[in-house]
Amino acid sequence: MNRERPTSLILCFLVWHLLLLIHHHSAVVNAAGGSWQLLQKSIGITAMHMQQLHDDSVIIFDRTDFGPSNLSLPAGKCRNDPNDQALTHDCTAHSVKYNVVSNTFLALEVLTDVWCSSGAAMPDGRLVQTGGFNDGERRVRVILPCPTCDWQEFPNGLAARRWYATNHLLPDGRQIIIGGRTEFNYEFYPKTPTTSGVFNLPFLSQTDDPSQENNLYPFVHLNVDGNLFIFANNRAILFDYNKGAVVKTYPQIPGGDPRNYPSTGSSVLLPLKNLQSGNVEAEVLICGGAPRNSFLQALRGNFLTALNTCGRIKITDASPSWVMETMPLARTMGDMILLPNGNVLIINGVQNGVAGWELGRNAVLRPVLYKPDNPVGSRFEVQNPSTIARAYHSSAILLRDGRVLVGGSNPHEKYEFTNVIFPTELRLEAFSPDYLNAAVSNLRPLILLPRTQSQIGYGQKLLLRFSLAGPVNVNAISVNMVAPSFATHSFSQSQRLLVLSVIGKILPAGKNIYQMQVITPGSGNLAPAAFYMMYVVHQAIPSPGIWVQLQ
Ligand SMILES: *[C@@H]1O[C@H](CO)[C@@H](O)[C@H](O)[C@H]1NC(C)=O
Repeated sequence: MNRERPTSLILCFLVWHLLLLIHHHSAVVNAAGGSWQLLQKSIGITAMHMQQLHDDSVIIFDRTDFGPSNLSLPAGKCRNDPNDQALTHDCTAHSVKYNVVSNTFLALEVLTDVWCSSGAAMPDGRLVQTGGFNDGERRVRVILPCPTCDWQEFPNGLAARRWYATNHLLPDGRQIIIGGRTEFNYEFYPKTPTTSGVFNLPFLSQTDDPSQENNLYPFVHLNVDGNLFIFANNRAILFDYNKGAVVKTYPQIPGGDPRNYPSTGSSVLLPLKNLQSGNVEAEVLICGGAPRNSFLQALRGNFLTALNTCGRIKITDASPSWVMETMPLARTMGDMILLPNGNVLIINGVQNGVAGWELGRNAVLRPVLYKPDNPVGSRFEVQNPSTIARAYHSSAILLRDGRVLVGGSNPHEKYEFTNVIFPTELRLEAFSPDYLNAAVSNLRPLILLPRTQSQIGYGQKLLLRFSLAGPVNVNAISVNMVAPSFATHSFSQSQRLLVLSVIGKILPAGKNIYQMQVITPGSGNLAPAAFYMMYVVHQAIPSPGIWVQLQ
């Protein structure tokens, strides 16, 4: 024994140094700040709107009155639209279906103008898109998740014109469509005999800035009590849409600067946790935007620096107040994406000016990660930059595999490829956060059960089985569900993330295989019936997601 001791000491010393090395190495890897991948040199259109469906396709569209795009419709197909302001006979596409798994795309045919519209995936997985401009302003358009499916259009599907509106999927399976230019009201889809009309929302006229709006594409989040949190300009209400009643008025965001279009910050509902508690807390985070009057200044060629602040508020508190934080980079037109591990990625946008034709300057190429559970002061992490500017009319969404799909950017009235500050961007890229790094693959779970496309009910025990090559840390495992959202104009409609409660222990179930039980969300207020991406997250590293249909 005694004689072995020096050897053990030396061994210990070596192991210690090795650990330091590994630690140092992994710290370097972890601090690398993500990576970028060019997926497509051109999808032929600009990704102004994006929605992922549960067949891993992404429905993308811009506007029909951009003139000819760089993608032809299938042979023989052309759109004859006497109302089109750019091209009445157009044989090019303005919508594509991108297949994430095969990294291929095909042209879709949209017949009327979808410019600056809104939408949501319904409980059965269809995308229902609403409104747009000109002949498209009262249209409802539907696309099903199937390889050969194309858009179907329903004229006068809406009761009012909806241009720059925000939609949200509701607990009863309908979607609500809120606001839009000069529409200080809301409506539902599908219609029922008692809710077929338009309902007033005075909050939208109260938050409308003369000559520069600042309340379009309001930030709408479904609160855990079933009411809607609606933020427009610089303040918010909690709204009972059934009664048409304001339930709560939130204080103005400190500083008072506007956060909605054209100032265009962004917002997320932070991950919902402790779903079993009966007292779930909900927090909203709003980041970026532009100082008041930035729009009027930008029209005169004065591009003010964007806001570098975020406001965070517990919307379920009896007397809520904002907590302000400072981002490392000022940003307008940034998208905010809930990552599978509950962190928030702030991506895209510019540092000066506002949304609108030719009104933005200085692309912010670096995304920033926000870690909501870290202490104030250590929540932001600057990520590696893209080489592609993503200004006005760009978008970003989370993919099932944990990457973030990034596309679009076209602050011009037509497609403009030369002699402009931000040429029309037809390229698609993906941002891979650190957690996709190969160096951490032995810590990455892989879900074995349930199988993808499984149906799950409310408030039920669900058996989850996963494999993990490396050592498991049972205290650092969670199961998260993310709703695929409708992304446009820097805001992801219906975006939410649910942290499921694990019950009992995480137990071995074979070599490198573990299982546990979780409880599915208890109500549609927490999670409207829909398809969700489900992840097992281990030490902040998510598994590849699976699709589950909550019903
Ligand atoms: C799109 O088409 C225009 C006009 O034909 C051309 O100038 C431009 O280079 C094309 N852009 C891309 C990215 O394919």
